Amino acid sequence: MFPGVVRLKAVASEKMIGFAAGDVRPREGLGWITTIGVLPPFRRNGIAYALLSSCEEEMGMPVVRLCVRRSNLSAQQLYLKAGYKPAGVWERYYNDHEDALVLQKDR
Ligand SMILES: CC(C)(COP(=O)(O)OP(=O)(O)OC[C@H]1O[C@@H](n2cnc3c(N)ncnc32)[C@H](O)[C@@H]1OP(=O)(O)O)[C@@H](O)C(=O)NCCC(=O)NCCS
Repeated sequence: MFPGVVRLKAVASEKMIGFAAGDVRPREGLGWITTIGVLPPFRRNGIAYALLSSCEEEMGMPVVRLCVRRSNLSAQQLYLKAGYKPAGVWERYYNDHEDALVLQKDR
């Protein structure tokens, strides 16, 4: 484990079916969710929500941020349900020039 990094995985039948990771920036009071994913056959079972909640908890920061592609509506629904609010836009952030939406949750 790297200091300042939280890494979590969801396991079923000894196989990794989901993961999440976050960077902890204590001087800024900020946690950044850097990645989250669940294998397609296991989606819509609350696994990402549980990983996200655990990652927020383990980071222990008062503010959590993340960014998501403008077109990724399923992930945006997840973050909305988890209490994230719009906090900015990074225009043409991704390699293919799609915008990143920055979302924030105050805990
Ligand atoms: C986004 C992702 C992580 C969601 O994983 P998941 O385990 O299916 O999510 P959950 O079951 O915990 O969903 C929690 C809530 O998010 C929302 N949600 C999740 N997937 C959704 C979808 N396809 N359409 C609409 N809402 C969705 C719903 O509100 C859902 O609650 P509900 O099932 O009670 O309606 C998954 O689809 C994935 O791995 N996608 C590819 C990787 C990715 O986009 N990662 C995010 C990058 S920012």
